[in-house]
Amino acid sequence: MSPEEVDLSTAICGVHLRNPTMLASGIVGLSGEVLARVARCGAGAVVTKSCSLKPRVGHPNPVVVDYGAGVINAVGLSNPGVEAMVAEIRDARELMGEERVPIVASVFAHSIYDFGTVARYISEAEPDLIEANISCPNVEEEFGQLFSSTPYVAAQVTRRVKSSTNIPVIVKLSPNVPNIAEVAKAVVAAGADAISAVNTAGPGMLLDVESARPVLTNRVGGLSGPAIRPLAVRCVYDIANAVSVPVIGIGGQSDGRDVAEMISVGAVAVGVGTAVYRRGMEVFRHMTTELAELMARLGIDSIERLRGRGLPAGAPGRPGSDA
Ligand SMILES: Cc1cc2nc3c(=O)[nH]c(=O)nc-3n(C[C@H](O)[C@H](O)[C@H](O)COP(=O)(O)O)c2cc1C
Repeated sequence: MSPEEVDLSTAICGVHLRNPTMLASGIVGLSGEVLARVARCGAGAVVTKSCSLKPRVGHPNPVVVDYGAGVINAVGLSNPGVEAMVAEIRDARELMGEERVPIVASVFAHSIYDFGTVARYISEAEPDLIEANISCPNVEEEFGQLFSSTPYVAAQVTRRVKSSTNIPVIVKLSPNVPNIAEVAKAVVAAGADAISAVNTAGPGMLLDVESARPVLTNRVGGLSGPAIRPLAVRCVYDIANAVSVPVIGIGGQSDGRDVAEMISVGAVAVGVGTAVYRRGMEVFRHMTTELAELMARLGIDSIERLRGRGLPAGAPGRPGSDA
């Protein structure tokens, strides 16, 4: 079999992707123009930066530091607000023209109520999918825990977002929980159409030994890149063993082999963040070429055949399972 004979297409909730690579939220997706450029560079779909009801400034610099094994960031969810994001999504769609790929609108809020409001607003832009980033603190809760920390609260947010839009909803989970499969089951029971896993791990901290001060102004930040790849692979494996909705695997993928690994543990598509930051937008083209070459070598002619090969027989996330 030649790489050209491999069918790299996949689907999330009926939305067709020409290949399984997706721009992960927050890396470069701030303007419609940049999203369209990522599409031209070969991504199968793009995810916007997470947006909130009102614009947010974020943390002071430095906010992103590459420490070799990975990246630590404390961007602080800076974004132009949902109204501006609606315009950017419309722009992106227009600029993509013939190269139109699915657009996923990422939203977040600091209260369950606002999650619904921002989802309703962003629906006006008619994105193909909505991703609820629930890895942010709930300010209405006594200790400001992340919404994704407990199955109960994660399900409440999911229900609120689902009742505010007719667009399919992906819920993005944090790896920083004792049992991610339980959170996945709860959000699926609450109506999630798909799951993204994972957001950044940690928080972590780096110290500048000369000054004995934290490297990040915010002191702590989320970890991403190759350092978290095994963590992300384990999370997706656990989720695909627990639920049958489509899973988007994210965390540390930098080449075609990493994409194949994530799909083999049950992902239907793979979000790429830090690798874009490090290798530029051309990374999508490299990854899909490498993936097709690897699959051809293994004699696997479609993503559907690759998916879930590493899962136990009968796992809900394995194609053909009747779970
Ligand atoms: C600088 C930076 C900004 C990010 N901003 C967001 C964001 O706005 N919303 C979100 O859901 N995830 C955000 N993430 C998390 C990524 O989408 C992704 O889940 C994570 O980085 C793991 O993937 P990676 O190892 O490929 O980067 C951000 C990550 C980085 C490094």
